[in-house]
Amino acid sequence: MPLVPMRQILAEAEKGNYGVGAFNVNNMEQLQAIVNAAAGQKAPVILQVSRGALEYSEKEYLVAMIRVAAQKNPEIPIAMHLDHGSSLELVKEVIDLGFTSVMIDGSLEEDGKTPRSFESNVRLTREVVQYAHPRGVTVEGELGTLGGIEEDIAASEVILTDPRQAGRFVAETGVDALALAIGTSHGAYKFKKQPVLRMDIIREVKKLLPETFLVMHGSSSVPRELVDEVNAYGGKVPGAMGVPIPMIQEAIGLGIRKINIDTDGRLAFTGAIRRYMVENPAVFDQRKYLAAGREAIKSWVERKMQDFGTAGHAGDYTPASLEDMKTLYTR
Ligand code: G3H
Ligand code: 13P
Ligand code: ZN
Repeated sequence: MPLVPMRQILAEAEKGNYGVGAFNVNNMEQLQAIVNAAAGQKAPVILQVSRGALEYSEKEYLVAMIRVAAQKNPEIPIAMHLDHGSSLELVKEVIDLGFTSVMIDGSLEEDGKTPRSFESNVRLTREVVQYAHPRGVTVEGELGTLGGIEEDIAASEVILTDPRQAGRFVAETGVDALALAIGTSHGAYKFKKQPVLRMDIIREVKKLLPETFLVMHGSSSVPRELVDEVNAYGGKVPGAMGVPIPMIQEAIGLGIRKINIDTDGRLAFTGAIRRYMVENPAVFDQRKYLAAGREAIKSWVERKMQDFGTAGHAGDYTPASLEDMKTLYTR
């Protein structure tokens, strides 16, 4: 099956009121783990590639492997998505490489740190939509900046999504999907004490934008057992905390459709490899420990597909091609 535009996967999730994991991929083992989990669970899946992953894999290698994964699993709808695209040039480059979906992260300047003005975000995002849609490619935008919020601490660096601004943003840009800043952040240290998320923002945005697919970044749960395994076998990841699964399920109930996960895969891979190395000090065949890492990611991805309600939905629809999708976009 050709790779599917992300819009179709999210549209089906909207109909079925479930969430779809968007898992970061960097190498072959990670890709196999995620796609084999999806095949076993009969779940649609979004494979996302960051700028760092493009660089690490010398891009064409990773893209070729993702295409092979789609060919080998014709029964599973798979989207190839750019995670946190930073410029129109990059978006054009990956669309030429065959990506079926792109995120343009116009919330920050190209340095990845300085917040960008609303007007500048709209301008950049609209340019991306104008390039992507005639090619059938889905676009995700972002409004607000990611960052943990604590119960009793004012979040000065974090700009949460303003629902009314979100309404204007979607009307002015034409994005298909919108990443909301509701208090999550990337990485293993999302909260210092209790996890706090602004679920009311999801509710408000969903009311104003029922046709837009809502996205939650920074959605790793940082499960205790993964962190414990890393630490038990020589790692140092103290005080890590993520988003509990019941909170993600609540967010899905309120309208979140795409759930971005990277950190949990990193923890699973690292913990399993650390363990393998300690338990098998005489082994130096890299296939052995990479296979242990691959197996660990697979079983965690399977759990998430069950937790998010994605499992079992791969066969509900006939996946669209980029050609089919061109006729569906209005702008
Ligand atoms: O957006 C953050 C993802 O976890 C990707 O991370 O830029 O280190 O590949 P990365
Ligand atoms: P985590 O760091 O929580 O896995 O988030 C990943 C992400 O949002 C990628 O865009
Ligand atoms: Zn992200």
